[in-house]
Amino acid sequence: MAKNIEKEIAKLRDEIRHHEHRYYVLDDPEISDFKFDKLMHRLQELERQHPEFVAPDSPTQRVGGEPAAEFPQVRHPAPMLSLDNTYSVDELRDFDRRVRELAGRAKVEYVAELKLDGLSMALTYEDGALVRGVTRGDGEVGEEVTANVKTIRSVPLRVEAKKLDLIGPPARFEVRGEVIMTRKAFEQTNAQREAAGEQKFANPRNAAAGSMRQLDPRIVAERKLDMYLYYLQVNGVEPLGEHAQALATLAKLGFKVNPYWRLCRTFDDLLAYIQQWETKRHGLDYEIDGIVIKVNNTRLWQELGTTAKSPRWAVAYKYPARQATTRVRDIRAQVGRTGTLTPVADLEPVDVGGVTVSHATLHNMDEIERLGVKIGDTVLIQRAGEVIPQVVKVVKHAPDGREFVMPPKCPACGGEVHRAEGEVAYRCVNAACPARLKESLLYFAGRRAMNIDGLGEALVDQLVDKGLVHDVADLYSLTHKQLADLERMGDKSAQNLLDEIANSKQAELARVIFALGIRFVGERTGQLLADHFGSLDRLAKASEEELLEAEEVGPRVAEAIQEFFHEKRNRDVIEKLRKAGLQFEQKRARKAEGKLAGKQFVLTGTLPTCSRDEATRLIEEAGGRVMGSVSKRTDYVVVGADPGSKLDKARSLGVPTLDEAGLMKLLGK
Ligand code: IVH
Repeated sequence: MAKNIEKEIAKLRDEIRHHEHRYYVLDDPEISDFKFDKLMHRLQELERQHPEFVAPDSPTQRVGGEPAAEFPQVRHPAPMLSLDNTYSVDELRDFDRRVRELAGRAKVEYVAELKLDGLSMALTYEDGALVRGVTRGDGEVGEEVTANVKTIRSVPLRVEAKKLDLIGPPARFEVRGEVIMTRKAFEQTNAQREAAGEQKFANPRNAAAGSMRQLDPRIVAERKLDMYLYYLQVNGVEPLGEHAQALATLAKLGFKVNPYWRLCRTFDDLLAYIQQWETKRHGLDYEIDGIVIKVNNTRLWQELGTTAKSPRWAVAYKYPARQATTRVRDIRAQVGRTGTLTPVADLEPVDVGGVTVSHATLHNMDEIERLGVKIGDTVLIQRAGEVIPQVVKVVKHAPDGREFVMPPKCPACGGEVHRAEGEVAYRCVNAACPARLKESLLYFAGRRAMNIDGLGEALVDQLVDKGLVHDVADLYSLTHKQLADLERMGDKSAQNLLDEIANSKQAELARVIFALGIRFVGERTGQLLADHFGSLDRLAKASEEELLEAEEVGPRVAEAIQEFFHEKRNRDVIEKLRKAGLQFEQKRARKAEGKLAGKQFVLTGTLPTCSRDEATRLIEEAGGRVMGSVSKRTDYVVVGADPGSKLDKARSLGVPTLDEAGLMKLLGK
């Protein structure tokens, strides 16, 4: 009996590993999500019944355990080197000449790869199982972050030992590669952080590195990191003779290998590759900061050796960054929605890759200190992707440079400024601060909140400066005349805006909760709170214990909610919003009967024939509920084309998925 169970478990694990590889590594699934989920469920069930068979490399063990207290320091068996950079074709020619001279050959073949902009990581496998993931650290000693690495779905927890015969049967081998965050995952992460009133990540690389430093693997799992491998070593050396072969072997072993590497037989091949990716890189879903060029013959690696920090057999070619130098005219504090004061550098306008830049964010006081920047200094700034320009470093200190001090009073309203213990940010505590009000209005009207189209910055400035709006609720008493009299507004735009404002009254409770701008309450938490409490009044009255019972609400969020509703000013605004007619109750009545009574659904992606509204209506008519986000309590996720992160979440929680046909079947249609 036990033997049979053990066998079934082993078989299930192999199957699941195979399909994870198809899905996460090759991006080419063979079975439906529904079938995959069934396999996962079965395995989870068997492991629950037979905990004696649970193994650390089981596909069920990706996200587990308690937050770590700290990361142990681990010495790399062979140092993790960095690369020398080249910035021009001439420098690259010098590299090629040096290599050929040192190797004593007229011609050397190279492998060109994309230089992924993430953080490098070494993974150790013993007897086929992933046993350790270590960050680069200082190259000699890194931090062990195994639990975090395991949450990366494209990293195999086990590789097939049989395939290792390709390189002999080492009991232990090491692979190295780059952990990255895709642009899409980066945007999602930042949207969540913004909603939570948390500091946004400056770029995907920082987001990936910051995520890996998280002590709680459950948070890392939500960040959707990915990892590409580019280095295989056994006993400290690449064992295959050719780097191209090593890449192919890594892929055969089941690792994700970036598919765009090329074998370049001539220097012209290299140049063509570099040129091709100079423009093509912008179309990738992840950022690269150059090209890596490696000698293909790995026997030559030993001959060429390394300098103190980098190998002589490889080099990076960096694309000219979108950077420029300019002078800091001033540094001022900008007030955000939550009252956070962000230091912003006013710059002498400068062209950076075709865009005139006159401001750059300095993030916070710690960053100013780190950069050592003063007013009057000449700085290097850069624009990366769509994010706000940033100051990279000080190029030249001004002899009379003035230090920036955070103003003790809010620059917008003169109110008190506080820095809470243990926080980096300074905040204006005046809830009526006009700068905060403007940001709050933009947030309230945002697409993911009340979705009032047309209420942009220029308009908000006028509404606040002319004293027409003192809080978000005042939007609902604006008149046609008031709006039509504003600059750049005519009769028609005034009417459109009034219509938009009126329409927003229909927004569901979840959106209303989100739009209020309670600290730490983002879109998802807004939805969970709406589902749990069913009305704004119940949420407002909830005790700390009651709040903590709601899904994903911890002490920090509970406290923020209580503080929010405790504030008299907020309560007054809420009363005005109630009078205006906003939805304070969960709109949809829950049917106690029907085929889907009590079942929770989540929709993601575009269904082939049914619109989202229609699918929602059908499910609700049958007594089911449609939720905005996937949780342990979700019964089914209905998946259409181009599904979002909800599908990943469903998979990680083992929630069954359906396609449209499957949903119709459930509905008996
Ligand atoms: S090879 C000694 N290949 O770039 C060999 N590195 O600036 C070093 N990187 O620390 C690594 N993509 O984090 C290599 N295809 C690639 C890479 C790559 C990104 C990173 C890696 C390394 C840094 C060096």
